Amino acid sequence: MSIALVILAAGKGTRMDSDLPKVLHSIGGAPLLHHAMHSAASLEPDRTVIVTGHEAARVAAAAQAFDADAVAVRQDEQLGTGHAVAQARDALEGFDGDVVVLYGDTPFITPETLRAMIAARAAHDVVVLGFESVDPGRYGRLIMEGAALSRIVEFKDATDEDRAATLCNSGVICARADTVFSLVDAIGNDNASGEYYLTDIVGIANARGLTASVVTCDEAETLGINSRVELARAEAAFQTRKRLELMTDGVQMQAPDTVFLSFDTTIGRDAQIEPNVVFAPGVTVESGARIRAFSHLEGAHVSRGATVGPFARLRPGAELAEEVHVGNFVEIKNATIDEGAKVNHLTYVGDAQIGARSNIGAGTITCNYDGMMKHRTTIGPDSFVGSNTMLVAPVTVGAEAMTATGTVVTKDVPDGAMAIGRAKQTNKDGFARKFFSMLRARKDQKSKG
Ligand code: UD1
Ligand code: CA
Repeated sequence: MSIALVILAAGKGTRMDSDLPKVLHSIGGAPLLHHAMHSAASLEPDRTVIVTGHEAARVAAAAQAFDADAVAVRQDEQLGTGHAVAQARDALEGFDGDVVVLYGDTPFITPETLRAMIAARAAHDVVVLGFESVDPGRYGRLIMEGAALSRIVEFKDATDEDRAATLCNSGVICARADTVFSLVDAIGNDNASGEYYLTDIVGIANARGLTASVVTCDEAETLGINSRVELARAEAAFQTRKRLELMTDGVQMQAPDTVFLSFDTTIGRDAQIEPNVVFAPGVTVESGARIRAFSHLEGAHVSRGATVGPFARLRPGAELAEEVHVGNFVEIKNATIDEGAKVNHLTYVGDAQIGARSNIGAGTITCNYDGMMKHRTTIGPDSFVGSNTMLVAPVTVGAEAMTATGTVVTKDVPDGAMAIGRAKQTNKDGFARKFFSMLRARKDQKSKG
């Protein structure tokens, strides 16, 4: 059976109090919308329709960044979730599989839960995802008759008896496309909010002799984000889960609560992550690598046996080969460091290639930017770059070459050569002693007078 997703993302998210549309706020470095699309991607949908409204162009662009084939439709006025689903009708013209409706602001529904809904669809016309809540608050309530779902009632419209129900509506539903649109056509807006409630399709289905059923999941999965406080709570939940996942897969963390991960952070077995490390998006750390305390990594690849930090920053395009050492207060950007090379202290390496086993001395800087354009630095294998070398790019230091400490390298250095470019030193005998005794005498005179 083929599957189409309809993701509702037209709402303004007023309670976020933000210029950014709600579904574009991030958890683990990815927008809420991508989390929802990511878990639904496991259903291998044939079509994906995003219902946009508030900041429609931005939301559509974000959806298409995740899935270039996603179709955005526009709901100009937000007249309710039922009205929102109706907007997907034209985009799903000719589609005759199952439709799964999801919310763009509900990032944690798992692929397993979605698959359970699809499985339940084989036996029922409409399947709703519900959850038991200890504190059901303002959620819509699922009203059961035995094992069958008879209707959904919104909190505002519920009687005290309805409100006593603890089985709540997550908002996720699944039904055949023709069933969904035919039911949605029959929804009215005569209710406490004056909205077209998608939830009304259950009562209508039953009245038509169709069957409706509930699949339940953990309340944590259905967590929707409406405010910054909820966003921060969701982030914390995401971090906890991702840390557990990595530790279960053999990653070592001394202080997991201080390690921040992204949705796509990949870390191999027996890698060690020290306290207070931040993984922004796009990082892969291979087995046995060690990321020391207070490092920040983004868009970087760290190979087996490499060491990073403490206090290192790997920026996008940092590619560290096996056994590379990157030490404290070192920044690497768009640069490949070949096997066994060492960049241990106080260094900036940007737009560069460093050959295998080379040693980059403390305080070295690749001067990659001329104020207009970026230029590359290439350093051959087995070379030695002396401390405080300024490499004025574009420039190449050959294999087995060296630069003397303090050299400003503006010309290529041939293989095996040494470059030295610094002012010559002269010593003035006795000068320092004379100078300080003079200063001391002056100071004494001042304090007396
Ligand atoms: C909805 C459900 C409620 C459920 C709850 C779970 C209805 C009528 N109610 O209530 O039973 O317990 O979710 O969180 O469905 N949206 C649009 N266009 C609209 C209206 C909403 O795209 O016209 C989108 C919103 O952006 C949001 C989602 O649909 O992502 C849910 O809408 P919201 O207004 O938050 O529904 P709730 O009142 O929370
Ligand atoms: Ca909501």
